[in-house]
Amino acid sequence: MGRPFFLAVLATAFTATACAPREVSSDSKASELEVTAELTDSKNNQAPKEASALLQKVRAEDYRSWTRAPGYEQRQPAASPHSDEVDIYVNDVVAKALADGKPLSEWPEGATIVKDGFSKSKLELTAILDKRADGWFWAEYFGDKPAFSGKPSACTGCHAGGDDFVLAFPLPQAPKP
Ligand code: HEC
Repeated sequence: MGRPFFLAVLATAFTATACAPREVSSDSKASELEVTAELTDSKNNQAPKEASALLQKVRAEDYRSWTRAPGYEQRQPAASPHSDEVDIYVNDVVAKALADGKPLSEWPEGATIVKDGFSKSKLELTAILDKRADGWFWAEYFGDKPAFSGKPSACTGCHAGGDDFVLAFPLPQAPKP
């Protein structure tokens, strides 16, 4: 998918869903209430314990030392509304699939992608996609606290336009004839 098309899709999706994380960055009283609502919202935060365990796991693996995602060799301006800039890291499963370059229709089980989102150069959020037997496990944290976890439609809707839900970079493709 070409980038302009992709951005147009995102703009539409954003208008439709009013991405919550953007509101969280302001320090007004109203947005504090929104954060609290999110943290206790079982629709968006379906598996907070699992999400906490996943954050601990990627931190123990020092995810910031992982391979950077293609196109994200340095911190990049965010194409999503939830931060100004992002760092995106991929674990060895994704790195190996990218290096092999064998065409794939989906990312294999064990694939993990971590995104750090920055606002005014300060870390604002961390988001993770973790491929499991039943598909991607989604999680987004403010500090150590999961605000979204499981398979929340707040995440999957916007990401549905991606390659196996991944928006930042494509699956390895067969070379064009
Ligand atoms: C309004 C659209 C939108 C929503 C909603 C959204 N994202 Fe994203 N996400 C993006 C875009 C665009 C990128 C590409 C990198 C960037 O610019 O941030 C991205 C990138 C990511 C990445 C890096 C892998 C990839 O797909 O590129 C992760 C992990 C991620 N998002 C997790 C989440 C989680 C978890 C949620 C739900 C809490 C979520 N996202 C909600 C737009 C969205």
